[in-house]
Amino acid sequence: MSFSQSIVHHPLLDQQPAGDRDLFAIRAELFTSDAEEALFALYGQQPDYDDWLSRFYDIIAEGFAARPDDLKKLDQQRVHIPDWFQKPHMMGYSAYADRFGGTLAGVADRLDYLADMGITYLHLMPITKPCAGENDGGYAVEDYEMIDPRLGTMADLERLAAACRDRGISLVSDLALNHTADSHAWAKAAKAGDPHYQAYYHCFPDRRLPDLYEQSLDEVFPINAPGNFTHIPQMDRWVWTTFYPYQWDLNYSNPAVFAEMLRIMLQLANRGVEVLRLDSVAFMWKAMGTDCRNQPQAHQLLRAFRALLRIAAPALALKAEAIVAPEHLTAYLGEGAHAGKECQLGYHNTLMVLLWSALAEGRADRLTRMLRRMPSPPANTSWITYVRCHDDIGWPVLDVERQGDGPSDHVRFLSDFYAGRSANSFARGQSFQTGEDRAVHGTSGMLASLAGLESACDAGNDQAITQAMARISLLHSIIFAFGGIPLLYMGDELGMLNDHSFEGDPQKAADTRWLHRPTMDWAKADERHEKGSLTHRIYSTIRHLIDCRADFPALHGDTPSRPLSAANPHIFVMRRSGARGRLLLLANFSASPQIITADEVIAARFRFPLKDRLSQSRFDGLDDLVLAPYACHWLEETNA
Ligand code: GLC
Repeated sequence: MSFSQSIVHHPLLDQQPAGDRDLFAIRAELFTSDAEEALFALYGQQPDYDDWLSRFYDIIAEGFAARPDDLKKLDQQRVHIPDWFQKPHMMGYSAYADRFGGTLAGVADRLDYLADMGITYLHLMPITKPCAGENDGGYAVEDYEMIDPRLGTMADLERLAAACRDRGISLVSDLALNHTADSHAWAKAAKAGDPHYQAYYHCFPDRRLPDLYEQSLDEVFPINAPGNFTHIPQMDRWVWTTFYPYQWDLNYSNPAVFAEMLRIMLQLANRGVEVLRLDSVAFMWKAMGTDCRNQPQAHQLLRAFRALLRIAAPALALKAEAIVAPEHLTAYLGEGAHAGKECQLGYHNTLMVLLWSALAEGRADRLTRMLRRMPSPPANTSWITYVRCHDDIGWPVLDVERQGDGPSDHVRFLSDFYAGRSANSFARGQSFQTGEDRAVHGTSGMLASLAGLESACDAGNDQAITQAMARISLLHSIIFAFGGIPLLYMGDELGMLNDHSFEGDPQKAADTRWLHRPTMDWAKADERHEKGSLTHRIYSTIRHLIDCRADFPALHGDTPSRPLSAANPHIFVMRRSGARGRLLLLANFSASPQIITADEVIAARFRFPLKDRLSQSRFDGLDDLVLAPYACHWLEETNA
């Protein structure tokens, strides 16, 4: 009997209603070959490979058997509507649960706020139990099967997920799967000398191999956590720690680690989590002589997870957090023969960084050039487009074209510009992991502070305030139309500014990312309806974009996006064109008016008259188009 046959005869499945069993069997027939291809490549050399396969199948059979009926119903809906996350009304919001609602129950109490805004996708940063003390914002997990007691319980998670579903909001949970906290039970057992658990991590008896690996590795936190290995005196071993020393990288060449994570993923899915944000996926596989990022096996792992989860819980979508150079990014959605077989969603980190870069330069040619080189996402996958998130804006991805050591002048310029260190800078950010003679990592800061609102308000300069508002609108007008789910970062919809309180907290002071992790200002949220307030102006700008997007068929995720070369380097031109509709996006990144000729619009294969979805203005094509400073238009052909 083949494995795909043996899995459908699993004793646990025999107790399932016949209809459920049949559905499981169909999915097993469809996806076991994808799973086995990836698993064989990863673990086929293991002497007990067949036992591991059986173990993986036990896990998905157990996961399916434990899956609540309402989620099985959701599975069926999602199987029949596979483009659910590509629909134009999809609108994301991301927040730390504690900072947004205090607890998970508190988040549930705030769902009206989100539903009122049109949010359909709520991403909460890690909610499982982190280690005590410093924990990298929750990304050092001590127990994946327990909710952080400060936030609530698994029952609260179930209630929150159900309440979200009732309102048409998909709950997204983080899963830090590249590493655990050093206080996780596996790490504790490893420290106590248990070889079974030492094999869950990359442990070395001396510096010989770590030194060899270091020759080709980069550092993620070069200032706060230099090097990639930490000595653990208790077991006298060096452990691989890509991030902070208390975050131990898991060893995915050990199938036991894969099995544990598969089980954890299904547990979260069965609580009602609809999307898993897979943290730091690029780092999941190590290979000597490489930078240990984007290894083929990291992709095989994602394909194996996806295929097995598709059998047990097909409603669950996977989102890749791969902050990697543009040439590696699209692969996380699957490429070539594997297109669409990896994560369905991935952060478009390149777009985010390029938008800020274009804003600082006041020109769009680099944005256009770099985006034009990137492949389109495969069918049935989409980007997560965003302007800000809880992390820094990491500039080095822009240095892909660079030969030689150290950051390019452009990256240095951006780092200085957004830290407010250069003349003419409107920004009020802070550098992250950037030293005098070390590599530039990134910039921290809230959207409004980086876009110039903070400095403009301090100066009481109305013109500067108007410009800052226009920048905020411009960035969002692009991420809302680019393709994928736009993701708002908590507080940006209200123009919340930098929060300096972290500077007085010894556990946070060294990590400037806390500058943009404020507690939600609910008093400010109430101002969003007060006409004339700045908060109202920002909120209504974003609200208007959400409304314009929701019923615009051309913005469905399956409509290809194509940035076009523009004669005027200050203008970003993008065409979306497909069976569902067409859009020509024109955006001016400079602080002065810019012209695009009517001929250029015609060359982009758009016919006048054109109407702007956002402002309702019309362009008849008799004159060239003049774009106001930082203006963005979503143009459609109109016959009227
Ligand atoms: C991801 C998270 C980031 C964290 C890192 C290590 O990049 O977004 O906040 O520091 O992973 O877990």
